[in-house]
Amino acid sequence: MNLYQHVEGYREAMTLWRHQIHSQPEVGFQEFKTTKFVEEELKRAGITLRSLNTGTGVLGVLKGERGPGPVVVLRADMDALPMQEETGLPYASQNPGVMHACGHDGHTATLLGTAHALAAIKEQLCGEVRFLFQPAEETLAGAQGMIEAGVLDDPPADYIAALHGSSGLNLGQVTALRGPAMASADKFTVTFTAAGGHGGYPHQTRDPILTAAHFVTAVQEIVSRQVNALDSAVVSVCAVEAGTAFNIIPRNAVMRGTIRTLNKAVRDQMEDRLREKAAGVAATFGCDYEVDFVPCVPPVVNDSAMVDRLYAAVENVLGPNSIVETTLPVMGSEDFALYSEKVPKSLFFQIGILEPGTEPIYGHNSRFDYHDGALVPGAAVFCQLVWDLLGPN
Ligand code: NI
Repeated sequence: MNLYQHVEGYREAMTLWRHQIHSQPEVGFQEFKTTKFVEEELKRAGITLRSLNTGTGVLGVLKGERGPGPVVVLRADMDALPMQEETGLPYASQNPGVMHACGHDGHTATLLGTAHALAAIKEQLCGEVRFLFQPAEETLAGAQGMIEAGVLDDPPADYIAALHGSSGLNLGQVTALRGPAMASADKFTVTFTAAGGHGGYPHQTRDPILTAAHFVTAVQEIVSRQVNALDSAVVSVCAVEAGTAFNIIPRNAVMRGTIRTLNKAVRDQMEDRLREKAAGVAATFGCDYEVDFVPCVPPVVNDSAMVDRLYAAVENVLGPNSIVETTLPVMGSEDFALYSEKVPKSLFFQIGILEPGTEPIYGHNSRFDYHDGALVPGAAVFCQLVWDLLGPN
């Protein structure tokens, strides 16, 4: 069966859906209109909705008619970013201060097209395909609620896959890294506190700002001296807040930051190392301290056999020249990692959205837009992956 041609029949619909979703962006956990829109389109395709009671987020279930078989989950994210769109597109955001600047409109339209295309051939499939549209990927907060709502259960998911548009790849090109592909992300807030006092009489208090300055330097020692040089880690202090005037030593200095790693062993030691630095610096400079450490997501780890399946599918629907072998992971994060932790046969791949010969505009930029030309290739790869797992062989 030529699935590219089959999916081609949904090109116009996917394009309209994407433009519609793009014009009505909603930030994480506010995707009420998008949820409704997705639910309506899935119903129109004859796909059953499983009630999640999560406010936003949708799970569509398609049972193959050829009998029992594996459960394949395909996931898209639906949330937009809190920023003002400056694309000037006819379908630009009608919601001031909110825009689809990461292409989640494209992911959602791609998965809707996939759902329609697979529903049309369900008599040739066995098992079950679940279409998971999750909220709040940008804050790494949406996947957990979906998992708790049981999207991977009853019966348990055997395979899970998702895609993300990449401005670094030409239209139709596809890549996925074997093993750790994206970093874990955890966040921290560290507060140093002292009595506070006059800037001219520092001996009458202790100084939270001086302490914070040493802390910012000290945490860099974790990566450079305590993590094996062959492992990867990032500790970034990204916000520092302290003080109100040129002559007052404040009572508090507050720092917020993020920690990224590519494996569990390294990730597991980072909280202790951070706490040791805070305690040590606080003791040295005589301040009290508090550390609030919030674990967010593990690394995204791609199953090597799933990457083989991906490349076989890509070769089939897009041709061998569309495969780009990636060799390096990235230190960005994705809450897809939480699914891949539960479903080891998991795959997170990138699909090109760059018009060849043009300058890339990367995600989270006010002039970013997903490329409509990536919709059919994305849905065709999804369909072929499902066909290879659930189709007649
Ligand atoms: Ni994104």
